[in-house]
Amino acid sequence: MSDATAKKEERRKFQAIRGTRDLLPPETALWNRVEQTSHEVFSTFGYGEIRLPIFEQTELFARSIGIDTDVVSKEMYSWVEGWEDANFAIFREWSMKRDPESAQVLRFMGPLRASKPREKRDLGPLSQNTYMTLDGVETIARFKYRVALMDVLELQDAGMAYQQQGKAMPQLLLVTVPGTIPEGMESFAAKANVTLEKIHIDDFEPPQLLALRPEATASVCRAYIEHNMQQLPQPVKLYYTGPMFRRERPQKGRYRQFYQIGAEILGGTDAPAIDAEVIEMLMTFFDKVGLQGATLYINSIGHNAENCRRGYVAKLKSALEKVKDKLGPDSQRRIDTNPLRVLDSKLESEQPIIAKLPHIADHLCDECKTHYAAVKRQLELRGVLYQENWRLVRGLDYYMRTTFEITAPGLGSQNAVCGGGRYDGLVELLGGPPTKGIGFAIGEDRLILSLQESGKAKLAQGRDVYIAWMGERAYATAIRAAKDLRKAGFSVELPPAEQKFGKALGQADKLGAKYALILGDNEVSEALWTLKTLADGTQQKLTEPDLLQFLRNQKRVSS
Ligand code: HAM
Repeated sequence: MSDATAKKEERRKFQAIRGTRDLLPPETALWNRVEQTSHEVFSTFGYGEIRLPIFEQTELFARSIGIDTDVVSKEMYSWVEGWEDANFAIFREWSMKRDPESAQVLRFMGPLRASKPREKRDLGPLSQNTYMTLDGVETIARFKYRVALMDVLELQDAGMAYQQQGKAMPQLLLVTVPGTIPEGMESFAAKANVTLEKIHIDDFEPPQLLALRPEATASVCRAYIEHNMQQLPQPVKLYYTGPMFRRERPQKGRYRQFYQIGAEILGGTDAPAIDAEVIEMLMTFFDKVGLQGATLYINSIGHNAENCRRGYVAKLKSALEKVKDKLGPDSQRRIDTNPLRVLDSKLESEQPIIAKLPHIADHLCDECKTHYAAVKRQLELRGVLYQENWRLVRGLDYYMRTTFEITAPGLGSQNAVCGGGRYDGLVELLGGPPTKGIGFAIGEDRLILSLQESGKAKLAQGRDVYIAWMGERAYATAIRAAKDLRKAGFSVELPPAEQKFGKALGQADKLGAKYALILGDNEVSEALWTLKTLADGTQQKLTEPDLLQFLRNQKRVSS
């Protein structure tokens, strides 16, 4: 790199990663208001807050959300933690078992002092070919937590490369821990003259596959099991707020780090009143934050049985096969992987075809049909308006029976501000007891966007009071005034240096202050302070207690 390029590189400005963003004031005040409203509304329905880790085992999400869903198959941020540590542990144990003094690692020069873990960085990737001489025999070895047939083939290739150089075939060695070796591997290795050595290690820590959470329902269920919440009075009602991560194509209302406010109700019965109350709470929340034009869509996707959803999916699949060549590539693929998801398609050309597909409502079992009818009745009892949408199947595998979604105006194509549904089998699927469950998650970014678009997001911006002070004596009074006003809950700007009054008032204006409190020598000696209302320029002189009272009254009127 030339010096000039290096300098340019150094000066390069950092930017937030695509699909992530900073949330700045004053907008963050709206975020806080929305979150505060969720705390208030949800607690009136008996929900308690749960705070969850941002990352979990990848397997937790894969098993709950489903391997064939977009969220798991394409959008997860996952990584492996501890690969090198595990491989190194295998290498160290192996070399300690063989006399460490005689083991020569040619590639790294000098005798191997494997008992010093600090040296592990010098060893390079142990999962790749390591060349060494063992008791005078040339050896190519791999030290690996999870071995695959590929390792055998690659060792064999490396050995053959020796032969091509006219050297003798080296000893080929694959070292791993017991319990991770795939079926058929032992005989495959034997045929290829690769020695497969299994080393037992006390307290071995296998590597972990971890992921940033793409959603939180799976985590809540994991926590329910982990903390034995089935022993608490049921149902357990929990809610959460926080960031989620999905590697989606960013666009308006769709981010890679986005925020959800969600609630889950676990345990107890699957009484339709529970479904209806969860939805009622949601609509109460939306009403309270001032979301306008929200539409609630509901559906029932039955349960996973031959006489219910599975039967329907089979019918849907055969209907889709018949129109396969009229569908786009995504839907064509989904016929095999997840036919229900075809109903989610927004592709214009597929709409008339989808409209003619069989409806799930006609294939629900009697129990699911009854449950769905009762949910609708319960919603009506609560005065919750809804629209039925037979195509609402949702993109995550864990749902059964009730599913719902809420759309809001001003969001373009990403108009779902909330999605949810029932997931009775999920806790059991994750190793817990049979447990009923239902919940939802609100997309907070989209909710905020919709509030902003509808003009419902007007926030009291700026300071309540800007203190324009001049002179040392006035400064002491200004500090005290700022302290008292802040204690009374007003936002106050106290400039750190003296300014001419004209300049101070200009500054107060720029900051959007409502009032300027003018403190000069006169005000201090008369104990009468000047308060200027910046909107109309009027001024009044007030004693300190009167000033506080006046500001309090004004605040009450405007809120
Ligand atoms: P979901 O439908 O995947 O459901 O997400 C819920 C909401 O999160 C969506 O309706 C949307 O508002 C918002 N959202 C999703 N992806 C993005 C994104 N990339 N950018 C911005 N907002 C997004 C769930 O996550 C389930 N866990 C909901 C649930 C809880 N079901 C039962 N309990």
